[in-house]
Amino acid sequence: MKILTGDSPTGGLHIGHYFGSLKKRVELQNKSKLFIIIADNQAFLNINYKVIKKNIYEILLDYLSVGIDPKKTTIFIQSCIKEINEFYFLFLKFVTYKRLIRNPTIKKEINTKNISPNIAFLTYPISQAADILSFMVDYTIVGEDQKPLIEQCNEIGKKFNNFIGKNFFKKCNIIYGEKKKLIGIYGKNKMSKSLKNSIDLNFSDKDINFTVNKIYTDPNRIRSDIEGNIKNNVLFEYLKLFLDKDKYSTYIKYYKIGRIRDSFLKEKLEYEIKEFLKPIRIRRKFFLKRKKILFKIIKDGNKKAKLIVKNNLLKLKKILNRNYF
Ligand code: TRP
Repeated sequence: MKILTGDSPTGGLHIGHYFGSLKKRVELQNKSKLFIIIADNQAFLNINYKVIKKNIYEILLDYLSVGIDPKKTTIFIQSCIKEINEFYFLFLKFVTYKRLIRNPTIKKEINTKNISPNIAFLTYPISQAADILSFMVDYTIVGEDQKPLIEQCNEIGKKFNNFIGKNFFKKCNIIYGEKKKLIGIYGKNKMSKSLKNSIDLNFSDKDINFTVNKIYTDPNRIRSDIEGNIKNNVLFEYLKLFLDKDKYSTYIKYYKIGRIRDSFLKEKLEYEIKEFLKPIRIRRKFFLKRKKILFKIIKDGNKKAKLIVKNNLLKLKKILNRNYF
């Protein structure tokens, strides 16, 4: 089984990434060939180019500190594999403008960020399709928000296969993590660093306390003896990730009859997050002291990834009669 997944280095990773994908990656790296793309071209579309390099190393540190093992998993940088762009170019022919602006992920991003999209942004689903299809993988691990992108990727693969009359590109299936979508601390949008509603993997204890304090709970519960509502209650969404079932349902029971304070539950959540981060922080410290290893991991990953994509591109070029010499 071959899997390609990845992240856009727009900032470090948060618990939404962890429960949505990272945890699953750590589990599956033992049973499959796992590739992780750090999509710096995608980040270039969204953030200041000056911080991308720093973010790449932040993300790499996040990967290593949650337990992704570079001996088992290939981690590489998107822009270092130039051959991916050649796939991207070839794919452009198979996507209409109408289809692009219909993509729900694109639509949503345009609406939440309130931007007038440039062409590169509109075509980023095609770029992501190139990431996936150029590797010939069977699976990807993504959150629910990425589903339309994977659908569009498969559409492109199918169209291309029809065009060349061969079953060249594989269908890519989605593997979801434990949590398909994690809501941000204010309960409005999905957790996202750029929306400043996230609990990050590199948070200090102080950051955790500060952020947990701001979590949206039942707005009508102005005193702890008032019966609480757990629907759309972000605090309970998060507690569920960390607590065992019995404890979680006990808290729900007491909350509903007004026998437990929000502040007690927030303290509990703070404690759980800190416990969860303990081993992650230890590993982060280890790698932070060994910067040279980080360079090597990426360089080795790039080499491996390049070989695969180059080889697949060569095969495709042959089919397209582009083996001119
Ligand atoms: N769009 C993904 C995200 O923002 C990152 C990504 C880029 C990706 N290329 C990919 C994910 C290929 C899976 C497969 O998280």
